[in-house]
Amino acid sequence: MTRRPYIVGNWKMHGTRAMLSEARAIDRAAQRHMKVEVALAPPFTLIHPIHREAEQIAVGAQDCHQAEGGAFTGDISATMIADAGAKFVILGHSERRQGHAEGDEIVRAKAQSALAVGLRIIMCCGESAETRESGKAVAFVKRQLKASLPPADEMPADVAERLTIAYEPIWAIGTGTAATTDDIAEMHSAIRALLIELFGDEQGAEVRIIYGGSVKPENAAEIFAVPDVGGALVGGASLTADSLMGIALAASEPFDG
Ligand code: PGA
Repeated sequence: MTRRPYIVGNWKMHGTRAMLSEARAIDRAAQRHMKVEVALAPPFTLIHPIHREAEQIAVGAQDCHQAEGGAFTGDISATMIADAGAKFVILGHSERRQGHAEGDEIVRAKAQSALAVGLRIIMCCGESAETRESGKAVAFVKRQLKASLPPADEMPADVAERLTIAYEPIWAIGTGTAATTDDIAEMHSAIRALLIELFGDEQGAEVRIIYGGSVKPENAAEIFAVPDVGGALVGGASLTADSLMGIALAASEPFDG
């Protein structure tokens, strides 16, 4: 692992201004763990207030609309989240794919619009329990990623800086049961091979692949020891500074994935 581990908290639809003190505590703790890159994706309403105060952590969004603007009631564009202080956006999360019927084409259009305004993107992928049971998880995830990412010739030259892949098996999200280290190793290595195929040896090897799905302080160290795990996308355990930084601490220990 040549890059700093990347630990991203995804607050989902949790957090009012009362949570700003927790974000402050995460930011302060992140200043003591400089070997790890900590970032937070709060709800849209908290992006700007957290951005204004944060000294260390980057703030991002959990989604954006693919259009630059227009008659899209209730939606938020990439320009708007960047204007609010977001430095990155999570795209293609399974809760968006399933709950908002976002197919690969829409996810790809969102990625194009986010990259066009200079945001970094965290592109999520992951299979359902049925797909895993059918033995087709790797093929499914590779196909999903290929279809969700913009074509290589449309990616910025510094693709490894701008793109992170988050492997999040749907059945592991919010269930308390993370994928096994063997399954994570197999999938991350398949994703690495795909990234090299798409973006070439140099950039493809540098793009971070992070794991998400029931990561907590108790299981973080063993997950981070898996080759090609470059960090974690954390839901439930990111809501308090204590547990998110417990995970960051595990990532700052010997970490040679
Ligand atoms: P979880 O969520 O950590 O609560 O499983 C992860 C995610 O959905 O990003």
